[in-house]
Amino acid sequence: MAAGLGTRMKSNRAKVLHELAGRTLIGHVCRAALALHPTDFYLVVGHQAEAVQAAVEADFDRLTNQVATAPRRHYVVQAEQRGTGHAVMMAASHFENRSGSLLVLSGDVPLVRPETLQTLLETHHQSGCAATVLTTEIWDPTGYGRILREANGYFARIVEHRDATAEQRTIKEINSGLYVFEMEHLFPALNRLTPANAQGEYYLTDVLGLLKEDGHQVGIMRHSPAEEVLGINSRVELAQAAERLRLAKLEALMRSGVTILDPKATYIDGDVQIGMDSVIYPNVTIEGASVIGERATIHPNAHLVNARLGNGVTVRDATLVVDSTLEDETTVGPFAHLRMESVLKTGAVVGNFVEMKKSTLGPGSKSMHLTYLGDATIGSKVNIGAGTITCNYDGKHKHPTVIQDGVKIGSDTMLVAPVTVGRNSVTAAGSVVIKDIPEDSLVAGVPAVVKKNLKQN
Ligand code: UD1
Ligand code: CA
Repeated sequence: MAAGLGTRMKSNRAKVLHELAGRTLIGHVCRAALALHPTDFYLVVGHQAEAVQAAVEADFDRLTNQVATAPRRHYVVQAEQRGTGHAVMMAASHFENRSGSLLVLSGDVPLVRPETLQTLLETHHQSGCAATVLTTEIWDPTGYGRILREANGYFARIVEHRDATAEQRTIKEINSGLYVFEMEHLFPALNRLTPANAQGEYYLTDVLGLLKEDGHQVGIMRHSPAEEVLGINSRVELAQAAERLRLAKLEALMRSGVTILDPKATYIDGDVQIGMDSVIYPNVTIEGASVIGERATIHPNAHLVNARLGNGVTVRDATLVVDSTLEDETTVGPFAHLRMESVLKTGAVVGNFVEMKKSTLGPGSKSMHLTYLGDATIGSKVNIGAGTITCNYDGKHKHPTVIQDGVKIGSDTMLVAPVTVGRNSVTAAGSVVIKDIPEDSLVAGVPAVVKKNLKQN
C-alpha cells in the first residue's frame, strides 16, 4: 500500500518517496518483499502515482539484477485514498476466485527485514488462521492501531488511535500494518467494511475484527524489537529511522573490518560497500552506490557520491567526488572536486583546488595545484603544473583536450580545446596553447609556438 499522501510529513512529495539511507521508503519495502521471491508483486498507488511507480520500477531494475527471477509487477490505482481497506479493495479484480495467502505490507514501514516477513508467513501457515497480524509493543503507541485481545489472550479486534477510548489508548501492543490474509476470506470481508469511524475511512484493520466475528481465527505474531516495524509518519520519525539505519550500517562496516573514527559523525548510505582496513575519519558522507576497496583512507569532510575507489586510495580533507572512479593507490585532495565520469588511473595524484570533469588522468600522472581539467584525456606520467586550465568551452560547445604520455604542462598554461599535446612535450609557464603540439617539443608564448625539439638536444 503506497497510495497515501502522508499528510503528517508536511511535504509536496508523496511520503513513500522520502529517502532513508539513500533509498526511498517504498524502495526499502520493495527490497524486503523481493527477498521473499514472490511470483507477483502488487503496488497500490494513488498520490503521485506516476512518480511512485517510476521509483519502484527503478528499484526493481536495480534489485532484480541480483536475483534469478523477478516477480511480475502489477500497479493498482487507488485514485481517491479512502483508507487502507479501500486500498486493498482496489486490487480485488486481480484475485477473483483465487485462494492462497496474500502478504500485505505498508509502504511506510521501511525497516522490516525479510527474515521477519518470512517468519510472519510461516507462523501464519502453521496456525491455519484466516489472517495473521504482526504486532509489537511500544512505549509510546500514540497514533497506532491498538490490539484488543480477548480474556484468553486471543485476538479480538484492532481499534485505531483516533477511535480508541482513553482506556484502550493505554494498550501498548500495536498493529505494525504488516499482515497475511487468506484471500478467500479477505475479499468478501473487505466488501463489508464501512467508513463509520473517526477518519471516515475503510480500515483494513476492521477486516480482522470481521473475520473474528465470523468465527475465524486471527493469529498474532508479536515481534521485537519494535524499531524494526515502526511506521514513518512524520519527519521526526524519518530522522529516527535514518539514525537507526545509519548506526546499523556503521556497525556492519566496523564488524567487517572498517575503522570508523567517529560513528556519531559519519554518514554512509545502506548500499555503500567498503573493503577491509579502510579508515573513515569524522564528518565523512558516502552516498549512493559508492564502492570503496581495501586500505582506503577517507579524511574529514570528504563527500563521495556514486564513487568507485580501488585499493589503497587516499581521499584528503574536504574533497567532493561524484560519479567518478579512483583506481588503486590514487590520492585526491584536499579541497578537490571530481565530477561526472572523472577517472584517476592507478597511482595518479590530484592535489588541492583541482576540479576535474569528464576527464581521465593516466597512471602515475599528477595534477597537484589549482587546476581545471574538463573533457581531457591525459596519458601516463604526465605532470600538470599549478594553475593549468583546459579551456574546454567556447561559449557554445565543449571541446576535448588530449595530453599524451610523459608531457609536462608548465604552470599557468591555458590549453584552448580542441587541442592535443604530443608525447613528452613541455609547455613553458604561461603558455596559451591554441593548436596541436607535436611530440617532443618545447612550446612557449601567447599563442604558444615550438621553441625547440627536445629529442635533438
Ligand atoms: C495504519 C493502521 C494502524 C497501524 C499503522 C502501522 C489502518 C486503518 N491503520 O495506520 O492500525 O498501527 O498503520 O504503521 O490501516 N495507504 C493507501 N491508501 C489509503 C491509505 C493509506 O495506500 O487510502 C497506504 C499509505 O500510503 C501507507 C499505508 O497505507 O503506506 C499506511 O497508511 P497510513 O495512513 O500511514 O496508516 P496509519 O494511520 O499509520
Ligand atoms: Ca503509517
